[in-house]
Amino acid sequence: MQDIDKLLANNHAWATRMREQDPTFFNNLVAQQSPEYLWIGCSDSRVPANQVVGMAPGELFVHRNVANQVIQTDFNCLSVVQYAVETLHVKHILVVGHYGCGGVRAATESCSHGLVDHWLFPIKDIYRIHHDELESIGGAKERLDRLCELNVIEQVRNLAKTTIIQQAWDRGQELAIHGWVYSIEDGLVRDMEVTVRDRASLERIYHFDE
Ligand code: CO
Repeated sequence: MQDIDKLLANNHAWATRMREQDPTFFNNLVAQQSPEYLWIGCSDSRVPANQVVGMAPGELFVHRNVANQVIQTDFNCLSVVQYAVETLHVKHILVVGHYGCGGVRAATESCSHGLVDHWLFPIKDIYRIHHDELESIGGAKERLDRLCELNVIEQVRNLAKTTIIQQAWDRGQELAIHGWVYSIEDGLVRDMEVTVRDRASLERIYHFDE
């Protein structure tokens, strides 16, 4: 069997299994999606969003890119965020990085990786801002893992800086942004405990409140 045929066979078996477990499963999904969570994660194949948090189809809205970044000029990510916040009314946004992220590592290297170097450029800035802390870490692996954490923390802040999120807060919408880092080594998520629910932690220059 061709590799790709195997995927189609898997799909057929999965759809059959889901219908056996719940004959109304697909009909219910067709009717509507009402996820309470938006996941913004890395494209890495080892970090499957739904499986990591035990969510069924329909329960998690997902956006993934290399090194789970939120960039103010990325209309792909921002369109997902706007739809999730303004139409789906998600209550939680999970920014989920992972230890050993190849994208974060590539950003620390001096060699060229092609187009992705441009995408990863903001992570070089994160390294520069936290240069002293990172350089004080002895092991290369530990230093990279800390940069993965700092990247997530920065992306939580980047989300809070958007007009989309701040306008939602101004409308009185309940909306929390969380920063997590997933470990491929043990399958567990570490909460960075940087959850934001309002703009109070943002410097004044980032406020849109007039
Ligand atoms: Co990654």
